[in-house]
Amino acid sequence: MHRILLLPGDGIGPEVTREARRVLDAVAPRFGLELAFDEELIGGVSIDARGTPLADPVLEKARASRAVLLGAVGGPTWDAEPVDRRPEKGLLRIRKELGLYANLRPASVFPALADASPLRPEIVKGIDLLVVRELTGGLYFGEPRGRALVDGRREARNTMVYDEVEIARIARTAFEAARLRRRHVTHVHKQNVLEVSQLWVQVVDEVAREHPDVELAHQLVDSCAMLLVKEPRRFDVIVTENLFGDILSDEAAMITGSLGMLPSASLGAGGLGLYEPVHGSAPDIAGRDIANPLAAILSGAMLLEHSLGATDAARAVRDAVSSVLEAGHRTADLVLPGESRPTLGCRAMGDRVLAALGGLA
Ligand code: IPM
Ligand code: MG
Repeated sequence: MHRILLLPGDGIGPEVTREARRVLDAVAPRFGLELAFDEELIGGVSIDARGTPLADPVLEKARASRAVLLGAVGGPTWDAEPVDRRPEKGLLRIRKELGLYANLRPASVFPALADASPLRPEIVKGIDLLVVRELTGGLYFGEPRGRALVDGRREARNTMVYDEVEIARIARTAFEAARLRRRHVTHVHKQNVLEVSQLWVQVVDEVAREHPDVELAHQLVDSCAMLLVKEPRRFDVIVTENLFGDILSDEAAMITGSLGMLPSASLGAGGLGLYEPVHGSAPDIAGRDIANPLAAILSGAMLLEHSLGATDAARAVRDAVSSVLEAGHRTADLVLPGESRPTLGCRAMGDRVLAALGGLA
């Protein structure tokens, strides 16, 4: 039996996680998997109920699980909180405490959605890239950090710091992933300005020597941002530090059609994985049953693959999503401005995926 901890969180988190769970429940018995779900609080809802964005017992439950499926955290209600008590802190803390340093964000285009991209279809058709984002270091966690009053002026500081061990292990994740793909790694950096990036270039080169069968390119982050919209198909695996990865993965997501489609996996050395859609809590549409559950459902597919080794079950979920899109079903985020097409709500989209899974059995 596999223990799965659900952390639906804030905004649209609960509604999309609910659909992902229904899909996992439906697919599991067909592939001989037994799943036991538990549910807990994270983010703003946890601040409201317990005064902290992530309570220690929740962290312990996560440690005792095979995998964590998370929805989203944050919203305007908690915007006034100091950095340390914001909903996001719960997410950062669980990533850090569980040692989930490798964040995999695959961005590929479902053929049926090539027209939903803000870019021309001939540019996006065939995009298939994987952002490997370092998740527990860099500016997000570096010390010293904080605010101070210096000579009567308000000052704030954050620190970008990495050591070679942190860089080498995420570089290895990228090269290993590339071996299962098109054997090309692009390391994204800002080495013309940052010492941290200079170290990354050196260490990534060293790790590249252990993987002579994989091609490596170094790319400045600003130029990478440009190339992602100009020639996104040139990328296979992108490996980069935490903040660059945060920004570039949203960009990569959007060019594939919608932020509402992108799943992610956060993995560490311990075997425990955390899975979450890349989109945020979208408070403006929360609770209205119009969110796109597909990124959460596809995160469930990543969970099946990476945490349970259930490659066939994962493929069944992806095929189901693909066939639903081929049949023309869309949530509101997948419809371009000016296009008139009936749209499905969150639950109805979940129903379609479940029906397609039935058809695949
Ligand atoms: C993400 C999110 C988070 C991050 C926020 C919510 C802290 O943007 O997962 O990409 O910056 O990592
Ligand atoms: Mg982000």
